[in-house]
Amino acid sequence: MNAWNPLIILNVIKEMKKTGLVGAGTMGQGIILTAAIGGCDVFVFESNDGVIEKAKKNIQKFFDKEIAKTNLTPEQASGLNTKIHYVKNINELFSCDIVIEAIVENLEAKQELFKQLSSIVSDSCILATNTSSLSVTSIASVVNLPERFIGIHFFNPAHIMKLVEVIPAIQTSESTVEKTKEYITYCRKLPVLAKDTPGFIVNRIARPYYGEAIKIYEEGIAKVEDIDFAMTEIGFKMGPFALMDFIGHDINFNVTEIVYNSFYQDPRYRPSFTQKRLLEAGYLGVKSERGFYSYSTNSQKPTPTISSDIAKKISNRILVMLINEAADALYLNVASRDDIETSMTKGVNYPKGLLRWADEIGILTCVQQLDQLYNEYHDMRYRCSPLLRKLASTNQKFF
Ligand SMILES: NC(=O)c1ccc[n+]([C@@H]2O[C@H](COP(=O)([O-])OP(=O)(O)OC[C@H]3O[C@@H](n4cnc5c(N)ncnc54)[C@H](O)[C@@H]3O)[C@@H](O)[C@H]2O)c1
Repeated sequence: MNAWNPLIILNVIKEMKKTGLVGAGTMGQGIILTAAIGGCDVFVFESNDGVIEKAKKNIQKFFDKEIAKTNLTPEQASGLNTKIHYVKNINELFSCDIVIEAIVENLEAKQELFKQLSSIVSDSCILATNTSSLSVTSIASVVNLPERFIGIHFFNPAHIMKLVEVIPAIQTSESTVEKTKEYITYCRKLPVLAKDTPGFIVNRIARPYYGEAIKIYEEGIAKVEDIDFAMTEIGFKMGPFALMDFIGHDINFNVTEIVYNSFYQDPRYRPSFTQKRLLEAGYLGVKSERGFYSYSTNSQKPTPTISSDIAKKISNRILVMLINEAADALYLNVASRDDIETSMTKGVNYPKGLLRWADEIGILTCVQQLDQLYNEYHDMRYRCSPLLRKLASTNQKFF
């Protein structure tokens, strides 16, 4: 967000949308900014007064930084700030066109909230959850008129990350899907459509980036800094261990565990003891100054010592597992080919779409590498997606 174009802001304001936001924590604050900058009036309900004060400060800090760094004027910033209304009573969300929920990740709490909300707002109001890991369908099941219920999954920080996953519940109507995509586009974000399955698109396809890297480390093939080096060498901005430290092991392990259990313990998503132990020790990563690496003031990152041959083998193994996951998501209609590519390049900044990458490497080569891993480990974790096998046998590509 380097340049502010007041004309764009004015145009979007014409399409005025009244947005309700419940839960002004980490994600809520980014969503408030997204909606306000997109031209919406935002009505915020948060149950903890301390969090509201924090949200106000953080939002002001964001605008101050933008004023210093970009062509946003103080008048424009204050105009945007006046679009944010903090309400004391949830009933004040009654006239919203859309209400987005970003409260604690707990099914009962979310269901309770939506039961209440569906009796407050009008029948045409879209109700949306920002859940990362719960079934959107199960939340929709308690909503009055569940056809207007949908998942809108932002990425952290929500006001910076372009990608937004749109997840219809099985009860959601086509018109709610279309209106939601339109709303997200108004807010200058990039919507992709995902099936209501664990991890949706990004949190499912990205799992091997962490899981396979940890397995390689556990097998003693290479040290964390060597594996990180191998992945940055093929274009990833951060190696898997540095990235897990950055995300926080509490969050990253939790997502892995939820995806694993939601898939009925599919070995492809199996969590690791290595990461569990870090969590138990309180080594959460950057935020606790200790994770796979140390982040205390005097510590230095170890230098990689890996040969280029081994680095290549490691990056091939992780990459082919990512490709397999992307292919399987396509095979199971979790998302379209193009939305899968967009999700991984815009949601987690992968250097290339995984399906295009598979085409470049050669589909047959990917299949052979996966079969080799399967033969070595006899672990269903390495089973090749039927789609990859089919494309290889008919000499086809994804694109
Ligand atoms: N943090 C992430 O990286 C991330 C990314 C995508 C999605 N999500 C999802 O977004 C949601 C919020 O996550 P977060 O990290 O912002 O959590 P958070 O703990 O930072 O914020 C949640 C806020 O909701 C408030 N709250 C709880 N119950 C409430 C209620 N009934 N009414 C009003 N306010 C209430 C809490 O006081 C808290 O301030 C979760 O569902 C999470 O899975 C998180």
